[in-house]
Amino acid sequence: MRQNNFWFICLLVLLSFLVSETHARQKVVRILAVGNSFSQDAVEQNLHELADAEGIPTIIGNLFIGGCSLERHLRNARTNDSVYTYRKLGLDGKKIEKKNMTLEMTLADEEWDYVSLQQASPFSGMYETYLTSLPELVKYVRTHLPKKCQLMLHQTWAYAANATHTGFKNYNRDQLTMYYSIVDAVQKASKQTKIKIVIPSGTAIQNARTSFVGDHMNRDGHHLDLKIGRYTVACTWFEKIFKRNVVGNPYYLKDMDYDQREVAQKAAHEAVLHPECITELTELKQPATKVNYDEHKVPVYTLPDVLTLNNGRKVTTAKEWSKKRRPELLRLFETQVYGKTPDRPKDLHFRVLTEDKDALNGLATRKEVAVYLTKDEKHFMTVLIYLPNQRKGPVPMFFGINFKGNHAIHPDEGITFPSEERMVAYGRKQMFPRGSAASRWPVEMLMEHGYGLATFYRGDIDPDFDDAFQNGVHPLFYKKGQTRPAEDEWGTLAAWAWGMSCAMDYFETDTDIDSQCIAIFGHSRLGKATLWAGAIDPRFALVISNDSGCGGAALSRRKFGETVRAVNRQFTHWFCRNFWQYNDKEETLPVDQHELIALIAPRPVYIASAEEDRWADPKGEFLSGVYASPVYELFGLPGLPVEEMPAVNQPVLSGTVGYHIRSGKHDINMYDWTQYVKFADQHLKKDH
Ligand code: GCU
Repeated sequence: MRQNNFWFICLLVLLSFLVSETHARQKVVRILAVGNSFSQDAVEQNLHELADAEGIPTIIGNLFIGGCSLERHLRNARTNDSVYTYRKLGLDGKKIEKKNMTLEMTLADEEWDYVSLQQASPFSGMYETYLTSLPELVKYVRTHLPKKCQLMLHQTWAYAANATHTGFKNYNRDQLTMYYSIVDAVQKASKQTKIKIVIPSGTAIQNARTSFVGDHMNRDGHHLDLKIGRYTVACTWFEKIFKRNVVGNPYYLKDMDYDQREVAQKAAHEAVLHPECITELTELKQPATKVNYDEHKVPVYTLPDVLTLNNGRKVTTAKEWSKKRRPELLRLFETQVYGKTPDRPKDLHFRVLTEDKDALNGLATRKEVAVYLTKDEKHFMTVLIYLPNQRKGPVPMFFGINFKGNHAIHPDEGITFPSEERMVAYGRKQMFPRGSAASRWPVEMLMEHGYGLATFYRGDIDPDFDDAFQNGVHPLFYKKGQTRPAEDEWGTLAAWAWGMSCAMDYFETDTDIDSQCIAIFGHSRLGKATLWAGAIDPRFALVISNDSGCGGAALSRRKFGETVRAVNRQFTHWFCRNFWQYNDKEETLPVDQHELIALIAPRPVYIASAEEDRWADPKGEFLSGVYASPVYELFGLPGLPVEEMPAVNQPVLSGTVGYHIRSGKHDINMYDWTQYVKFADQHLKKDH
């Protein structure tokens, strides 16, 4: 036994060694800045994290002496003086510091991939100061570095307009003079020394100064502000070195708000695109516009006509709708809003994990079914199903994704609690307590009305945070070399919707379930995903949106409550990247959300709002139903049979599109469920 343990431990050690070795050999990018306190501002924080957020391991060094000029670096190189401080961030991002280092020792410390040089700030815009030292310094550095290592010039930034630094007099104490001198000097130096990579930090800072942040990028007039200043420059290094758009990188400092993050990322991105001129961040002149809750301030808008084809022709029959307009709209939503989803996995398979025919005191049968997405069964979701025991034949069923875990929908001890391993996959330290979401899941009531209920946890398909699409199902479908979905490929909402279709594949095999009579529902973000699931998968017989709001049932063009920009900024992973083009430009969207409802026609849809949930724009949700109705009418069905918003707690149940606005908050409660059951009774129970 002892001996077995010994070999087992040896094996583990060997394995972890191999894993860390391949990890280290394959991907680690080693970056060294040779500079001064400005290189410290640039690389010692944020750069590691930005790369890490995109799955790129780095080792980052900063070799510096405060205020060190190129001339002094050269002198140090010639004499090999141990006068430097060397800070190094290892693979884990932890910093170590060594004093009394020489340039030579540091160049030999790692197999550097990139080494940057920079001038001290007072001289950074004076080309003659580069000419006298840079060429020899470059020669020295090159002879001490591996061939593959690329040299870079760091274009540093101009001081704040009110800076007191004595070096500012070199530029007549004028920020723009200083900035343009730096651009010019670095450009010439790069030509002279044939260093192709210039990191345009100075331009990024200048770009950011055109935003609402203004000239507040420095902490003392010359060094960078510890948050947005340093973060902006790190973003610039990130995008320049890794050639990846930094806009949308999920890493940012906790106490930086979304507006500042947007400024920093955009400023850096534009600087990399246009390194030698200032790009005005016109959209970011003001911090995000205040939320509008005033009906009078809703802009005048024209919705795209649901029945007019892209070529301007009008659709007049249900057949034309299905053959021409519907595919066209589906495509637009797919490429511009939610992102394209892959086909379902070829190795999709199922296994019933548990079954209890005597659950809930005999009221129901409870099953837990694993829906495996891969052959090796490493990726799966667990679908929890309750079926009423009082049933004759297959039952109609409600099906929705849950927020907190299957075990949270009911105190029923028979529901499996997620294992430690699953929690790690979900990126959670703790799960919500058992039964903690029970108020939203009236299991007994549904059983008593003869409906089944199925659900899975959203984290099983994709945990709900932005990790640059490294966890969840997205990586399973990356093509060779792909590291995140393309601009028109699925975000998290589309992934959840796709997960619903995978579960549906199982329901079709379960003879206890009437898979032709499945009503899908979702609250809030899950309502957005559910509407999209209903749009792309016609097997779902009825679709319910509960308080789904922006990017769900609410019309985007009304800009009431949450806007496209607000949702994209706060939930960078939900929609496809193309959707970001419409931030503050809702009027240019080729679709609006009434067309999402129309995509579900002629199947019934129920839209529900809550009076106090103004963030989700109840009126915009209602109007989507109204404007989708012409499509139902083509099928000879009543859409939403009223044009005026009904009073609170006066549900409209008589059409194929149902609607209510109930009193109270953003939530899903028994009032909502009572209407859903009535609506489903009308549409799904016909044959039962
Ligand atoms: C936020 C978000 C909404 C979303 C909601 C939810 O409020 O802005 O778009 O619907 O979260 O899912 O609860």
